[in-house]
Amino acid sequence: MKEKFKKFRFIVLLIPLGLFIRFVDQKVIQDDFLSTNAIEDHYIFIVSLVVIVMGLLAAIFYFDKQSDSSELKMQHFDIDEIQGFSKLYRINLINSITGYKSANMIGTKSSLGKENVAIFSSITHLGSNPALIHFTLRPNIVASDTYNNIKENKVFTVNNVTLNQVEQAHHSSAKYDENISEFDQTLLEPEYRVDWHAPFVKGSPIALGCSYLNEYEIKENGCVLIIAVIEHIFVEDELLQKDGWVKLESGEVVAINGLDGYALPKLKKRLEYARPNEIRRKAKS
Ligand SMILES: Cc1cc2nc3c(=O)[nH]c(=O)nc-3n(C[C@H](O)[C@H](O)[C@H](O)COP(=O)(O)O)c2cc1C
Repeated sequence: MKEKFKKFRFIVLLIPLGLFIRFVDQKVIQDDFLSTNAIEDHYIFIVSLVVIVMGLLAAIFYFDKQSDSSELKMQHFDIDEIQGFSKLYRINLINSITGYKSANMIGTKSSLGKENVAIFSSITHLGSNPALIHFTLRPNIVASDTYNNIKENKVFTVNNVTLNQVEQAHHSSAKYDENISEFDQTLLEPEYRVDWHAPFVKGSPIALGCSYLNEYEIKENGCVLIIAVIEHIFVEDELLQKDGWVKLESGEVVAINGLDGYALPKLKKRLEYARPNEIRRKAKS
């Protein structure tokens, strides 16, 4: 509504012009303004007209500059303001501000055979030779079934989240007791492949079998960074291209925006490997 009004705000500028015309009209009819051909009247009329038109032009230029779409209207928060936000506002802001993140479910199994699955947005590759990944665990890892199971058995699976798994995958973040498997609380189904101790998630078009290598405590906030090696890759035929590139779009693999927004990215293009001599400088006006 506000945006719609903005489009028509230039019309508001015509009001002073209309009032001026009406004023002159009344003067002409009632006070014989201009009809006597007095030179003084002509000067008053022309000067007033010039002032009004210049005022209108200035207002138009001002509004036009303000609505220039190339100018970003930014909000700025400094570190004190960020710290001053409410917990929920800061969580939402900081979790979404760095962009879309990968959506994966980590599958694990305890030594007693209890399966576990939970959604993670921090899984990223950490170099391809050797093929490593890393992800971060929130502080208080002792309460994390994922962490405990990985420490016990050293293996886990990483399973991409697809559009039709979103609700179930999201629900896997609920804090269930270690004796309760999220596989029993959601429609997600475990699937076993290549004798891997940890369960894969049925229906995920990309799944990795990973082995724990190391962990690092992030001293600044108590998070733990887990490093693992990829031992098995399962990828749906249709997604894997001839050059090894995986077309996630064909599998309706989603991305995470913050902690509760799920997006289905649309591929625009793949580009050539960038080389320095191909840089084209943008002409600066
Ligand atoms: C979209 C989304 C992304 C998440 N990403 C992470 C993450 O990267 N690291 C983490 O420790 N927890 C993350 N969580 C929270 C875990 O899913 C949640 O703590 C879960 O209960 C952990 O399961 P577990 O106790 O069975 O290990 C995320 C939750 C959501 C909804």
